[in-house]
Amino acid sequence: MINPSNGKIEFRVATSIADYLFLRRLRNAVRQQLTNDTAKLGYLRQFRFYISRPAGLEIHIAWLRGRRAGYLLLRRAEGTCYVTEAVAKRFRRQGIGLAMVRFAIGRAAELTAEIRASNTVSIELHRAAGFYPLALDGAIVTYRYRRSGATTA
Ligand SMILES: CC(C)(COP(=O)(O)OP(=O)(O)OC[C@H]1O[C@@H](n2cnc3c(N)ncnc32)[C@H](O)[C@@H]1OP(=O)(O)O)[C@@H](O)C(=O)NCCC(=O)NCCS
Repeated sequence: MINPSNGKIEFRVATSIADYLFLRRLRNAVRQQLTNDTAKLGYLRQFRFYISRPAGLEIHIAWLRGRRAGYLLLRRAEGTCYVTEAVAKRFRRQGIGLAMVRFAIGRAAELTAEIRASNTVSIELHRAAGFYPLALDGAIVTYRYRRSGATTA
């Protein structure tokens, strides 16, 4: 893996409208790879999301060299922490995806990733971070990470 050369990745909680516009743009670009809602997000829906973010959801933006490079969503529900992430195309293969998943690992004792079985890149990424396959339901495979000794998220 290429290390994010010339710079370190920083994680900042999404707060500004610019953060949410970045989130919308990237999320729409990768929506075919997502497992829940794959509909295109319009500005109005994103704005509503901005003003009333669901409880239990953390949104982090990964920054590299002063630019937004990716997002990480953590949603605590059902005793676990669901993780999903995306990296903008021009920043891929530089270790940002793995850095985001490792950041997530530092924030929850148990993580769950629901991934399309066809999304081999995401599967490879989660395996590389230490996730293991838990269940296969149709086209979706569930991966889990549990910190050793942990019983809950
Ligand atoms: C999945 C995604 C986040 C990976 O981001 P990334 O920053 O390119 O990933 P990294 O550079 O950290 O790669 C980490 C590991 O993932 C795997 N990986 C990443 N890209 C890969 C590719 N194109 N082919 C095969 N494996 C790949 C490799 O194991 C890699 O380690 P290596 O470079 O040492 O071989 C990015 O491709 C993406 O945004 N995809 C679209 C959205 C998506 O599918 N999100 C997941 C939803 S569940």
